[in-house]
Amino acid sequence: MSQAMIEMVRQHRECDEQLTRCETALRKRDLPSAGRNFRLFSEELDHHFMLEEERLFPAFEKATGITNGPTVVMRGEHAEIRALRDEAYAALEAHQPDEALAAIDTLNVLIQQHNIKEENVLYPMCGGSVPQLMSVLGFGGCGGACSCASAAKPETA
Ligand SMILES: [Fe+2]
Ligand SMILES: [Fe+2]
Repeated sequence: MSQAMIEMVRQHRECDEQLTRCETALRKRDLPSAGRNFRLFSEELDHHFMLEEERLFPAFEKATGITNGPTVVMRGEHAEIRALRDEAYAALEAHQPDEALAAIDTLNVLIQQHNIKEENVLYPMCGGSVPQLMSVLGFGGCGGACSCASAAKPETA
């Protein structure tokens, strides 16, 4: 898998870990900590979805001409995940830990199903078809086509 896609998978794992921190706090009935951790999770999720929806998906659609395929399905799933995220948020704000835990349980299932499809299908397709993925995603690299890659390590002729 390309470096850019490895970074996107890493973001999936980070979101998972952040959501687990929130769940752990909720099980201990530590609502302030649960709220803080859920906010962080939500920010990471929004950032990741923004990268996909505004950069990765359009680049994939442009490179392949596939505008009515996996990116449409993924955008739809993002909307479902966001709606459930808002539900969990509302339960947390209302100090209802059991309701929040139930919503987070379902949220977790949806996210895992979504991530499996991206990691097994869409990301490999992107890696194989979108040029300059690192710079498309703003990861500070160009995929090796300019001097930024060789600046970090000596030239291998
Ligand atoms: Fe996604
Ligand atoms: Fe993703």
